[in-house]
Amino acid sequence: MASNPVAADGRSRTLADGNQIPALGLGVWQVPDGPECVNAVRWALELGYRHIDTAQAYDNEESVGRALRDSGVAREEVYITTKFNPGGKDPAAEAEHSLKRLGLDYVDLYLVHWPQGGPLWAWPGMERAHGRGHARSIGVSNFSVAELQSLLATAGVAPVANQVQLSPFEYRRALIEGCQQRNVAIEAYSPLGTGRHLSSPAVDAVAQRVGRTPAQVLLRWSLQHDLIVLPKSTHRQRIEENAQAFDFVLSDQDMADLAARDGTGGTDLAVEHKWW
Ligand code: A2P
Repeated sequence: MASNPVAADGRSRTLADGNQIPALGLGVWQVPDGPECVNAVRWALELGYRHIDTAQAYDNEESVGRALRDSGVAREEVYITTKFNPGGKDPAAEAEHSLKRLGLDYVDLYLVHWPQGGPLWAWPGMERAHGRGHARSIGVSNFSVAELQSLLATAGVAPVANQVQLSPFEYRRALIEGCQQRNVAIEAYSPLGTGRHLSSPAVDAVAQRVGRTPAQVLLRWSLQHDLIVLPKSTHRQRIEENAQAFDFVLSDQDMADLAARDGTGGTDLAVEHKWW
């Protein structure tokens, strides 16, 4: 299915609304606001990353904004995502607060962080943020296929992305297919399993075979599934290592060996245990 076309060099995708998104981004979940976050984002930008993924709930938007300004990289060259914390009431008002913290006029992508209170109620506010030009694109995170479907049935502006925890160990094949069929781009958060999957013997076996690191193998697996991938690291060397996932290919056998690690049963659900 030809959804969200991939650029020839594999480094970006086109979203359903026509906007481009870089296929690799730095995720900053669990990075404390302050020097650690500023450094991680600054290094990523120095090393060529052009996509940073933050959220209101991460409490580090100010550091992301500071690093972006300090970097000297032009605003329009960097893709910035933030997410509406659904503990709040008004996504449009919260978008303005995010923009203040980030020091920006717009974000590239604004997501409903999780479907707390149901998948529908926040969307009109998301559409308002979009209509005001505060978010170039809008989407969701942690939505199952059923939640996405009910939103698509009523949305005026369709969500263009669903950000979910994905890796060979959380393959969620039916969720990926359900998003692709609906032309919703899929973003993989915690693609290294928050680090857990890096010590997997199955990943290591593939890494040995292709002469790459376990992190690169996991990220390559996501890229070869046409996922947008958002690894987190606060170490410069690892941030650099994680960006080197575009210059090699995993064979069908490597992909299958990794996919065999799936523990979700190919689910169409986004999470195993709701935290909301
Ligand atoms: P750190 O931030 O200390 O570098 P995920 O992206 O799945 O959430 O995984 C993030 C975790 O994996 C963090 O603990 C991060 O540690 C670690 N990590 C990220 N990249 C690498 C890498 N290339 N090698 C080893 N550990 C890594």
